[in-house]
Amino acid sequence: MRMGHPPIRRRKPLGLQVISILSRSVSRAVVTGAGSGIGRAIAVELARQNHEIVILEVDEAAGEESAAFIQKSGGSARLVPCDISQTDSVRSAFDQLESLDILVNNAGIASVGNVETCTPEEMDRIYEVNVKGMYHCLHFAVPKMVQAGRGCVVNLASVASYLGISERFAYSMSKGAVLSMTMSIARDYIDSGIRCNCICPGRVHTPFVDGYLEKNYSEQERPEMFKKLSEWQPIGRMGTPEEVAGLVAYLTSEQASFITGSAFEIDGGVTNLR
Ligand SMILES: NC(=O)c1ccc[n+]([C@@H]2O[C@H](COP(=O)([O-])OP(=O)(O)OC[C@H]3O[C@@H](n4cnc5c(N)ncnc54)[C@H](O)[C@@H]3O)[C@@H](O)[C@H]2O)c1
Repeated sequence: MRMGHPPIRRRKPLGLQVISILSRSVSRAVVTGAGSGIGRAIAVELARQNHEIVILEVDEAAGEESAAFIQKSGGSARLVPCDISQTDSVRSAFDQLESLDILVNNAGIASVGNVETCTPEEMDRIYEVNVKGMYHCLHFAVPKMVQAGRGCVVNLASVASYLGISERFAYSMSKGAVLSMTMSIARDYIDSGIRCNCICPGRVHTPFVDGYLEKNYSEQERPEMFKKLSEWQPIGRMGTPEEVAGLVAYLTSEQASFITGSAFEIDGGVTNLR
């Protein structure tokens, strides 16, 4: 068979293009945990792509700040206060939305320790936010996407979803579940026009990382530890929230219409390079 570029489609006359752009309804993107770090960068980038942003955030002040920043930059954003670990809170948040086109399940919390040091309370805490919280958002969002016959979900997993990283017992458990939930949703809703993928970042410099350093190391130890964390990535540094947001923007765009049921490493070489 002769390979080559597909034939170039003839463009619609300009007048018809304008009409179809005007008649397209506003695209709404829900981003959880967009008050900080990666989630905030994702919300800002999706707003730049002309999506109307709905921020689901437990830290109301931080969520308001992100929404105000987007509005000041000319975008559309609003906060719906929500604790994703609480069923009623998530139900009520999605009840306020008539429809949504994109769901970015970003909110998550960190945990350090092995199976011996991880207390039953810590295991519950991580499960309630990172696993059940994501389940809640999927549970209340997917029916709206099914009704619309289209939708796009991006879940924040981690390289910990599939690598054995030391002292990350509960966190790895939760991110493994994110990977599995991603594949399950992608499979079950492929015929409903819903795409679902996940992103597996290596270390990204956010308050998540700074909080970990503050909690576990003295002021004197922190610079050395920061260097160590940076050098863990073969590329020699941590990622930036904006780099992750760029990948989310691509996955939620029309250009990614053939991509579903995939996990994308964005990790400075952690997974594949030695
Ligand atoms: N930073 C990294 O190195 C890294 C690496 C891999 C994966 N991730 C994942 O990326 C996501 C974002 O990480 P980040 O570094 O930006 O974290 P972050 O701590 O900077 O931000 C997380 C946000 O989620 C919100 N949140 C926490 N619990 C919530 C709840 N119950 N309901 C609603 N909102 C809640 C927080 O208030 C915060 O605004 C997380 O899922 C994390 O596991 C981060």
